[in-house]
Amino acid sequence: MQVFILKNYEEMSREAALEVKDRLLKKPNLVMGLATGSTPLGLYKELIRLHKDEGLSFKHVVTFNLDEYLGIAQDHEQSYFRFMRENLFKHLDINIKNVHVPNGMAKPCDIDEYCDWYESRIKKFGGIDLQVLGIGRDGHIGFNEPGSSLGSRTRVKTLTEETIQDNSRFFKDQSEVPTYSITMGVGTVMEAKEIILLANGKSKANVISITIEGGVTAQVTASVLQLHRRVNVFLDEEAASLLKRKQYYNFVAKATRKFEKMARAK
Ligand code: F6R
Repeated sequence: MQVFILKNYEEMSREAALEVKDRLLKKPNLVMGLATGSTPLGLYKELIRLHKDEGLSFKHVVTFNLDEYLGIAQDHEQSYFRFMRENLFKHLDINIKNVHVPNGMAKPCDIDEYCDWYESRIKKFGGIDLQVLGIGRDGHIGFNEPGSSLGSRTRVKTLTEETIQDNSRFFKDQSEVPTYSITMGVGTVMEAKEIILLANGKSKANVISITIEGGVTAQVTASVLQLHRRVNVFLDEEAASLLKRKQYYNFVAKATRKFEKMARAK
């Protein structure tokens, strides 16, 4: 895991966008895993800016979203499909046929088959090259709540009360927040070739310190990222505030940038 601590949310988002840009320039048909929620909004805004101002093209990009509420149709105000369309896809030159968000209206009786299809679709495109993740206060990635198997695949998950409460800010009433979701599994996420984890704000400080400096446990599903070969964590100062080895991460980040510069010069 490489940890980058940025001054604020805007810098965190810009840094993460630069990484996406770099990977996209190297592979125009990049397969991206995407997250919804408040955290990646700054990254998406910056990607839109890079597309508009610098001509960064998403024409051949294929995307797979992590999750969707079960029982919510694509055009529902709070559907993750709609979130992605409004906050990213409609502003880019992406081919909507290459966009995948789990179908919240999949029938309960067909769900296992549908989840297998989602997994096979990821495989068909050669797997996810770059996965973008946010993190819940309870350490979830996607909707893989505490106790989710670290080897899990795309399936139905019941949301915890904490997540329902957190996400109720987007609904008129807490009772409207769905109880179930379809989510990629922890095992699915771990197969991505590279992962970007983003977190900002004080409310994420505790879970970030456990995820990065605690033990690997299914009780904090994000902690399994410690076992992945290529994870870059982008944090603002508030989210990083409880990390014990902050100084070391900053030292490594500086040294890495220097090394990359040297490599580019050769
Ligand atoms: C959503 C997702 C979730 C969020 C997490 C944090 O697609 O994957 O795991 O990343 O709930 O949400 P925010 O960013 O709103 O704090």
